[in-house]
Amino acid sequence: MTHIGILGTGRMGIRLAKMLALVGNEVVLASRTTERARHIAAELNVPSLRGGTYAEALEAPVVIPSIFVRDGLLNDLNDWRKSLKGKVLIDITNPFNDDYTDFILPWDTSSAEQIQNLLPETNVVGAFKNVWWEVFDRPDFAGRRSDVFVVSDTQAAKAVFFKIVEGTPFRYVDAGRLANARTIERMTLLSGEIGQRMGFFPRMNYSLLGESWTVGKGNAGIDALVAR
Ligand SMILES: NC(=O)c1ccc[n+]([C@@H]2O[C@H](COP(=O)([O-])OP(=O)(O)OC[C@H]3O[C@@H](n4cnc5c(N)ncnc54)[C@H](OP(=O)(O)O)[C@@H]3O)[C@@H](O)[C@H]2O)c1
Repeated sequence: MTHIGILGTGRMGIRLAKMLALVGNEVVLASRTTERARHIAAELNVPSLRGGTYAEALEAPVVIPSIFVRDGLLNDLNDWRKSLKGKVLIDITNPFNDDYTDFILPWDTSSAEQIQNLLPETNVVGAFKNVWWEVFDRPDFAGRRSDVFVVSDTQAAKAVFFKIVEGTPFRYVDAGRLANARTIERMTLLSGEIGQRMGFFPRMNYSLLGESWTVGKGNAGIDALVAR
């Protein structure tokens, strides 16, 4: 059982708290308004979940800020730097602007990297960035699981992440280094735009198709005919 602190009782914070508590983690869901967090936790009624203050959530060895960058998350993290030292921080943020039409960070960085740069003594894992909030309520798509891309520069932190999500209804894909968050975060911008046009929003997620090379070997004959 891992002790997890989740900061923020918005769309994502509540759902992550419920999902992670249901698989046996001990979760403190925290709000700036403690009574709100306690009320939500009571409504969710999962034994290993309780409401609390941000300070209580920051005591956990694994912390998930569920706050927008545009709402001042980076300043908050700077204030919490001491409490976060040596811990695993699971970063779910996409740096959206107010009307969700673009990002407030430039192309050559990501929220995940900004947070890691700000907190060099904390191990940042990027995850859940493409999972739109309502997907947590019904994670399957016609019986198929969708993907969560997981990035970090610290293998041990990734291992902690994979342990706390065991039993949750997603396929977790090790997506490599933290800098890959640049791509992954912008994939959310893309899915949001396409999903609205196609009428899926916000029930959509990515699922990477693929098969092993040996299965695909049937094409070898054709490849041999292609001039190089
Ligand atoms: N929505 C999605 O589908 C989705 C998907 C993937 C990733 N994300 C990321 O997840 C994070 C949270 O998204 P969300 O949709 O859950 O946001 P949200 O519904 O707006 O909730 C954000 C929470 O942040 C807390 N907060 C702390 N300081 C704040 C401030 N100065 N102003 C406003 N709220 C403040 C509030 O909780 P308290 O009042 O309880 O403290 C608020 O409920 C964002 O970084 C977003 O990019 C969202």
